[in-house]
Amino acid sequence: MVPPRVLLGVAGGIAAYKSAELLRLLTETGHSVRVLPTAAALEFVGVATFEALSGEAVHTGVFADVPSVPHVALGKGADLVVVAPATADLLARAAHGRADDLLTATLLTARCPVLFAPAMHTEMWEHPATRDNVALLRSRGVVVMEPASGRLTGTDTGRGRLPDPAEIAELGRLLLERSDALPGDLTGRRVVVSAGGTREALDPVRFLGNRSSGRQGFALARVAAQRGAAVTLVAAHTADLGDPSAVDVVRVGSAAELREAMLGPAQGADAVVMAAAVADFRPAALAPRKIKKGAAEPDPLRLTTNPDILVELVAARRPGQVIVGFAAETGDETGDALHHGREKLARKGCDLLVVNIVGDGKAFEVPDNAGWLLCAGGGETELATGSKALLASYVWDAVAARLKPPSA
Ligand code: C5P
Repeated sequence: MVPPRVLLGVAGGIAAYKSAELLRLLTETGHSVRVLPTAAALEFVGVATFEALSGEAVHTGVFADVPSVPHVALGKGADLVVVAPATADLLARAAHGRADDLLTATLLTARCPVLFAPAMHTEMWEHPATRDNVALLRSRGVVVMEPASGRLTGTDTGRGRLPDPAEIAELGRLLLERSDALPGDLTGRRVVVSAGGTREALDPVRFLGNRSSGRQGFALARVAAQRGAAVTLVAAHTADLGDPSAVDVVRVGSAAELREAMLGPAQGADAVVMAAAVADFRPAALAPRKIKKGAAEPDPLRLTTNPDILVELVAARRPGQVIVGFAAETGDETGDALHHGREKLARKGCDLLVVNIVGDGKAFEVPDNAGWLLCAGGGETELATGSKALLASYVWDAVAARLKPPSA
């Protein structure tokens, strides 16, 4: 298979140093990458770094290698353009169709998906000029990511930090899978997503847990935020995942904590997605001290049932709210995974249910996912294997289709 051809534009901000990590991630995941820095970007990172990591020549202007007409050839041959970091100046030049270097000229000839990952000081991101430029770019169908919040250059902190390179790479892969995966259709919506696996303590040392990595829930939160939603992510135990940009993350441990953290924000939400693997049972009693080996009492595995948070959310659903459940299923003698999924959708009463087939290394702790999307009242869509962000984009399509217009 021909590797996807990615053009990585790098503008001149301090976050340019992180573009080297993004470049590495893209090449290691099988993309062929050509780096197009601006002249200012080369004040931060040298040509040698980009050439060594990409294996391709690096130029900033249109007058190098003139016979190949690079700004046209590169743009036409690209499957994806990612600009990271995209500075205020780069966004302004792109919005106004300037073509004063190889990167901006290439942006005019590329017809593939374009992803801008902004990085700048909060004041610059919030300035009306930048807001207008971002709106103009988005209105043309290019994706301008919401930046992260956190430490900026100097002593500043706030909105405007470059999203994690892994997140930029994930969204880039998503746009290669599906160029229309990130519309702004959730702008003005509030959504709450749960993710990860709960841990139910047995004693101060041990817990009952599960294999959820949280990747699917994080992908749901990330994709919703980039589609414009205000997102609360209630994260139980997860693999070492970076916080999604522009998402309010609440960390919890047990099912009881997850329940507490979900019920409040869910009240004001347009949509709630329960992607967390919540323990169905917890130890009947929490031993105050470590249970010693060989002790006859207490029986450490006496269990009691946890409340079903999804069922509670459905019972408390406000008018128009869309609720999505997940079901990790295996087939058994009574039916296949899909059969169990249909039964679960009816039993839980949610609007949508994603059925994942688990076992044999599927779904848990891996980057890809597949399954079915079942809708209350009928409708079943098979979700072919793809990234967890791709699956998330299909879930949000279905949610967006069910949400009433904000004014209604
Ligand atoms: O019944 P089962 O655990 O298979 O259902 C899975 C769905 O129910 C998921 O959406 C999960 O987040 C949710 N769930 C819950 N509370 C529980 C158990 C599962 O909300 N105690």
